[in-house]
Amino acid sequence: MVKLKIDNKEVKAAEGAVLMEVIRESGTEVPSMCYLENAEHFTSCMVCVVKDRKTGKILPSCSLQAEEGMDIISMDDEVREARKTALELLLSEHVGDCEAPCQVTCPAHMDIPLMNRLLAQGKFAEALQVVKKDIALPSVLGRICSAPCEGACRRKSIDESISICLLKRFAGDTDMNEEEPWQPTPAPDSGKRVAIIGAGPAGLAAAYYLALKGHQCQVIDRNGKAGGSLCKEVDEEELPADVLQKEIEMIGAAGVTFTLNREVDAKIFHELAKDNDAVVVAVGKGESGVAGWDLPMHARGVVAEGKSYRVGDTSVFVVGSALRPAKLAIRVLGQGKEVSFSVDQFLRNEPVTGERFLFNSRFGKLVPAEYAEYLKESKEGERLEPEVRAQGFTKEQVMEEAARCLHCDCRDLQNCRLRLYSDAYGADQKRFKSEERLACTKQVQHDQVIYEPSKCIKCGICVRITEKYKDAFGFTFIGRGFEVVVGVPFGESTAEGLKKAALEVADACPTGAISRK
Ligand code: SF4
Ligand code: SF4
Ligand code: SF4
Ligand code: FES
Repeated sequence: MVKLKIDNKEVKAAEGAVLMEVIRESGTEVPSMCYLENAEHFTSCMVCVVKDRKTGKILPSCSLQAEEGMDIISMDDEVREARKTALELLLSEHVGDCEAPCQVTCPAHMDIPLMNRLLAQGKFAEALQVVKKDIALPSVLGRICSAPCEGACRRKSIDESISICLLKRFAGDTDMNEEEPWQPTPAPDSGKRVAIIGAGPAGLAAAYYLALKGHQCQVIDRNGKAGGSLCKEVDEEELPADVLQKEIEMIGAAGVTFTLNREVDAKIFHELAKDNDAVVVAVGKGESGVAGWDLPMHARGVVAEGKSYRVGDTSVFVVGSALRPAKLAIRVLGQGKEVSFSVDQFLRNEPVTGERFLFNSRFGKLVPAEYAEYLKESKEGERLEPEVRAQGFTKEQVMEEAARCLHCDCRDLQNCRLRLYSDAYGADQKRFKSEERLACTKQVQHDQVIYEPSKCIKCGICVRITEKYKDAFGFTFIGRGFEVVVGVPFGESTAEGLKKAALEVADACPTGAISRK
């Protein structure tokens, strides 16, 4: 046994133990990308660095052995910066999208690629559940949304964007016409009350998601029916009143109550603020009442914190047109969902930070040479149009159109360590960005895994695992110096290279480079 210090705390370790493991056993997390327990190791990622207190040197903890008298600082500003720089260097050569461009662009941040995959398989009910996680009124939005997501769709570079909006509409309409439309189960009653002023898209979305989080929600509107601008500014042909009505009823079925024909003036606003645990102001365009409610104002509207929509340190939150003029229904609907996160944090006495989005690797446009690579996971064919637009797609058309989706999102976006650490250390993907980028390729021959070399960080874990299994070809480093790539030697396919170790390699790969299909 040897004795050493980690962050001024004395610990004992077996002589020769890997320093990184000793630090972890002492209860301190150390990030690592290229380290594989019980396997031969060579240092490459440098995200595991720590500081030697005596010399001030920054050293990779995976390659050091615990020694008598060592004095280690596992984290300070310098260590943090060194880890961040190591991640930025990895990101500089990394070409991939964590979330698909359509999802990043959607103001409600809907998981469009997942919806498309489910629709393509005919799993309509599951697709609806994915949609409703982010969009409270899918059938309504499926008719009136200007679909900024379609403008960002990668398929547009190849031929035409995926008809995302009509696909979402199909999911919503199919469910709505069921005898018992799907209702998510709300969280247990929190005992907290929220008043939402305004029954337009922002207020409806805020109320729906807050009700699902277990809070009692009352929506108050001066009009005789809910819907706000959706009733006033959209014509019957575009958005039939019964579609809006049915989706509002579903919001009611989630536990939201409505008080209509009630004008909220300054006095009533202050009463609502007093009688409820939180108030969400979601009044629509032209409702100037807020001006007299003692809320801080500037030229465009109420002053609220940008991410949480909270007014100062009060229990009042503001979204939609009272905040700033907003033309797109999807944008205010997205705000309604976002504010539900900050109100929920507030009601649970947590720091009110708003919805949190993880780091997203992005690489810009596809180049023509990459079209064929992306089409490997999709179907050729032009964008479908419904025969009569007002009727939307048929079931068969939905499956066909959804199958055109290119699967631009990364398969490993929930577990990828490059993403999680880049997020935790605030890494900037552009810091060491070079003019040229690697081309995206997708090796799809294997029936269990897919390999995307442009996402590989050359950690060598797959090489060590395939060596262990003695796969005939395995994975290896090909080339030298900066040109080195990881792949199957002699131009063989991944199906040949990963005969025995495929799933273990996919699970151990620290990025989404090799992932389960
Ligand atoms: S490999 Fe990781 S960082 Fe790269 S695109 Fe996938 S999830 Fe994002
Ligand atoms: S092809 Fe599919 S995943 Fe890619 S951007 Fe378009 S809808 Fe999104
Ligand atoms: S493909 Fe292999 S070398 Fe590349 S990141 Fe994954 S495990 Fe590491
Ligand atoms: S260099 Fe230590 S884990 Fe990669």
